[in-house]
Amino acid sequence: MLRQQVLARTRTCGVALARPTTRHVCNPLAPSSCPRSSSSAPEQLRCCSTAAGTTPTASVAPEAAAAAASSPSLQELLSTGARLTTAAQAVWAQVLLPGDTAVDATCGNGHDTLFMAQVVGPSGHVHGFDIQDAAIVATRERLESHLSAGGRLPALSLHRACHSRLQELCGSGVARVVAFNLGYLPGAADKRLITTTQSTLAAVEAALEVVMPGGVISILAYVGHPGGQEEYDAVRQLVSELSPSYWVSSETRLLNRPTAPILILLWRRDARVADNSRR
Ligand SMILES: C[S@@+](CC[C@H](N)C(=O)[O-])C[C@H]1O[C@@H](n2cnc3c(N)ncnc32)[C@H](O)[C@@H]1O
Repeated sequence: MLRQQVLARTRTCGVALARPTTRHVCNPLAPSSCPRSSSSAPEQLRCCSTAAGTTPTASVAPEAAAAAASSPSLQELLSTGARLTTAAQAVWAQVLLPGDTAVDATCGNGHDTLFMAQVVGPSGHVHGFDIQDAAIVATRERLESHLSAGGRLPALSLHRACHSRLQELCGSGVARVVAFNLGYLPGAADKRLITTTQSTLAAVEAALEVVMPGGVISILAYVGHPGGQEEYDAVRQLVSELSPSYWVSSETRLLNRPTAPILILLWRRDARVADNSRR
């Protein structure tokens, strides 16, 4: 069914492997992240004592409930000049339920991974992806600090792997939120390790398979750095061609702040609603 939804648009890019929507086009500056490489086995890190399957089953963490309950709307945030990174988090908090699976496709320094972890709570599961060791380490440390401070965590799977492998490593139709914050690792010495058009397109295609009906794919794209405009244009084209029977594709940008990121939201419509709308 979902294949038909994806094929409802026409486009070509990347190198199609056996499964047309799973294209592995990794960053050449980080060849070890390439799934075709012999050393490419994903470094799947389980965080602290919260390995998947062994997570203590507890009631909803107070922090998760608070995050969801106190989350302002997108309009409220926009009208008060909040950053679009904050606006994106607010959308996730409104969509995610305790116990859900969420995917941070670009961990970076782990701010978004921790945010998702707090919202889904100890009964949930968060997958984090990054091609840089430094990012995986920073994310793990941030989550460990949260744990040390008395916070609680869901099951965590940190993958040092290209996010084009989302479907392979997370599964199909499992996540209520899949989030991308494109670009480079803030504070990194080497800013050449950035998301690239080809791998981002492959990853967004994979995310279309990973998100569940009623869920959302959130993409923050930056156009101020070299390659950023091309990457944004390519993603915009891809998501503009999705079948409206199955996807709602939207974009928010701050016209008077041209260097601010652009927030793209892809809502996977509930199958029953989508079927009704086609009649
Ligand atoms: C803007 S940062 C993300 C910031 C992060 N969300 C946070 O909360 O700190 C973008 C990240 O994407 C990572 N990245 C670049 N190419 C990638 C790829 N192909 N797969 C996964 N991550 C990638 C970079 O290493 C970088 O850490």
